Amino acid sequence: MQNLRYVGKNLFIEKLSINNILKRNKTPFYLYSENQIINNFLRFKEVFKKTNPLICFAAKSNSNVSILKTLGKLGAGTDVVSGGELLKALKAGIKPNKVVFSGVGKNEDELRIAINKKILLINCESESEAKLIDKIARKLRKKVSIGFRLNPNIDAKTHQKISTGKAENKFGLSIKNFKSFYKSIKKYKNIKLDALSVHIGSQILSDVPYKKMLNVMSNLIKELKLDLKFLDLGGGFGIRYNEKDKPINLKKYSDSVNKLAKKLKCKIIFEPGRSIIGDTGILLSKIQYIKKGAKKDFIIIDAGMNDFMRPALYDAVHKIIPIRKSKSKLKGTIEFVGPICESTCKFGSYKNYQKMSENDFVAITNVGAYGSSLSSNYNSRPLIAELLVNKNKIKYIRKKQDLLKLINS
Ligand code: LLP
Repeated sequence: MQNLRYVGKNLFIEKLSINNILKRNKTPFYLYSENQIINNFLRFKEVFKKTNPLICFAAKSNSNVSILKTLGKLGAGTDVVSGGELLKALKAGIKPNKVVFSGVGKNEDELRIAINKKILLINCESESEAKLIDKIARKLRKKVSIGFRLNPNIDAKTHQKISTGKAENKFGLSIKNFKSFYKSIKKYKNIKLDALSVHIGSQILSDVPYKKMLNVMSNLIKELKLDLKFLDLGGGFGIRYNEKDKPINLKKYSDSVNKLAKKLKCKIIFEPGRSIIGDTGILLSKIQYIKKGAKKDFIIIDAGMNDFMRPALYDAVHKIIPIRKSKSKLKGTIEFVGPICESTCKFGSYKNYQKMSENDFVAITNVGAYGSSLSSNYNSRPLIAELLVNKNKIKYIRKKQDLLKLINS
């Protein structure tokens, strides 16, 4: 994150010293840079300028209403995957005609809300779902615009748990099955196929799978002579979690997208999440205890895997940095762990880390995407606060959940 840097020994976010923020706020909490969010969105928009796509931010990556509002003011729409996310997007002031709804298991209530609110597109993922949308629309006497999500059977070369476009993944319909569905689409009088959609995975760092995906889509559209209003190309663009990660070349991809959009004469939709929000947030945590182990020492912090799941779920590596730098080093290996009663509640090991003491603070970095949104009440711990910094101002964008309310609910 460019807006996170040391001034002397102290870590700053935008114009604020994190040490000062910590004097007034109890850890653990999420802290975001609003200007980083704005810059990321504008950079994405600039790369695809020629195509002028509708950029529907994937709310699953971070569904904080204030963050959706910030993005909405810049012209973003939202990609939602549940009734809850849909209502959050509308609460944030996103117009329904900028909302797309993805997901393999939308239920009747959720579909009814989407139809009643007249969102731009429901991206349908099975023939049974199309049937249900048609049935609800008929009862409501409406004609509903749908997209169909395809599974192009492409390996996005990412972590197997976040790959979504291979034949063995549950998402979308295979090309063969879509073709057979398409033959009978006329019998569904209350839906209209306005779009195709595709999303092959997340944290993708190469443009090669994307180009293959464009080929598959383009060939199918040609073969069936589809006249589409929209082509929804999903999200998935990776970010650099460490020095080894090479950034994806979006410029090259944008040229291919632009060519296809011109040929098809349709509006392109993107659903980026991580690339907009991933590097904008940190998770601040206090060192509760330091304990000697037989093979390494444990630094026990007050954030747990319930607050931040990515390391436990995907073996994700997120750098942990001190709030105050010092030159003296700890000897041997230390491991940052959390308080949850699971061995997977750990955040990373380091050799010769700088000297740390109990009550010092650290920041887990690049946690803006799939951090807060994946958190839970596991071990009956309340959801933690979220703060947003803009220059030298702080906004409290989510209060820490009240422990008594959690216990009594
Ligand atoms: N569109 C659809 C239909 C999706 O399923 C996803 C993510 C996105 C867009 C946004 O993808 P992004 O641009 O953020 O890569 N929890 C995992 C990531 C799961 C992604 C699920 N789908 C993680 O923490 O890595």
